[in-house]
Amino acid sequence: MPHQFPLILGWEASGTVHTVGKGVTSLKKGDRVYVYCRKPTLQWGSWAEYLTFSAEHGALVPTNLSMAQAAGVPLAGLTAWQALFDKTNLQPGEVVLIHGGGGGVGSFAIQWAKLHGSSVITTASAPKFEYVKLLGADEIIDYQKHHFVDQIRCSYPSGIDVVFDTIGGSVYRQSYEILKPGGRIVSLREQPDLDLSQKFKVRAEYLFTFPNGKQLQTITKLFELGKAKPPIVHQMPLDQAPLAIEEIKKGHTTGKIVLQVMSQI
Ligand SMILES: NC(=O)c1ccc[n+]([C@@H]2O[C@H](COP(=O)([O-])OP(=O)(O)OC[C@H]3O[C@@H](n4cnc5c(N)ncnc54)[C@H](OP(=O)(O)O)[C@@H]3O)[C@@H](O)[C@H]2O)c1
Repeated sequence: MPHQFPLILGWEASGTVHTVGKGVTSLKKGDRVYVYCRKPTLQWGSWAEYLTFSAEHGALVPTNLSMAQAAGVPLAGLTAWQALFDKTNLQPGEVVLIHGGGGGVGSFAIQWAKLHGSSVITTASAPKFEYVKLLGADEIIDYQKHHFVDQIRCSYPSGIDVVFDTIGGSVYRQSYEILKPGGRIVSLREQPDLDLSQKFKVRAEYLFTFPNGKQLQTITKLFELGKAKPPIVHQMPLDQAPLAIEEIKKGHTTGKIVLQVMSQI
């Protein structure tokens, strides 16, 4: 990513509107908002007391979520939304494999796919089984004990419709093998593999999540109607950001780590 120093990291946040620019009518001072506000150059990020963002990228925080819970929603919630609906055009009744269903993105993907009327298979380690079941997963594969390709071939000999890859590497490449012809795969980690796409006659996409306040508003409604479960969040003070990054790098967190910048969060 292009970046410039001094550099403040962070692409998402929840907080209270301090000031709105000329012509902004959708938000006003004092509104509780959340936002995914990636900018073309990394510099003035969201790990800060104040940040600026385009009003069209923000939405009101769901009334039934705390500020900390809300801070864990925008990037993961939008990523799952755009992967399933903008990239693979998942349909009701279709079968989707979501890799890493207990992670930040995967936990939203399970919920969005189920709300849409699709069947969800997910991979997770045993300690996360209860969590992904609670989110609505229909079938769970313990990826540490079983190979997902064998398991899915057994249950769906002619293949499944969609794979959502949050892992990359060999998990990504092997996922092509379990799709039916005409199936779709979207990855957060890998660019499409043209040879594999042709070999298995599937459509492959890469997603780099984009800010979208309208989609975030829809997600707000799902929380307020009680259709979506608030994310599990682990709060850490800003000065423990390096520790938070180390945890995330291990790749086995449940839900989201939220950095607390201001004391009233
Ligand atoms: N391209 C984009 O715009 C974009 C947007 C958001 C995120 N991302 C990337 O997408 C990835 C996922 O993000 P996240 O926030 O969901 O990460 P996360 O919260 O760290 O979750 C990762 C999950 O993957 C699971 N996992 C690890 N190895 C696995 C394997 N071999 N098979 C199946 N599951 C496995 C872990 O489950 P266990 O604990 O059960 O092992 C964990 O629940 C990250 O690499 C992130 O950087 C990209």
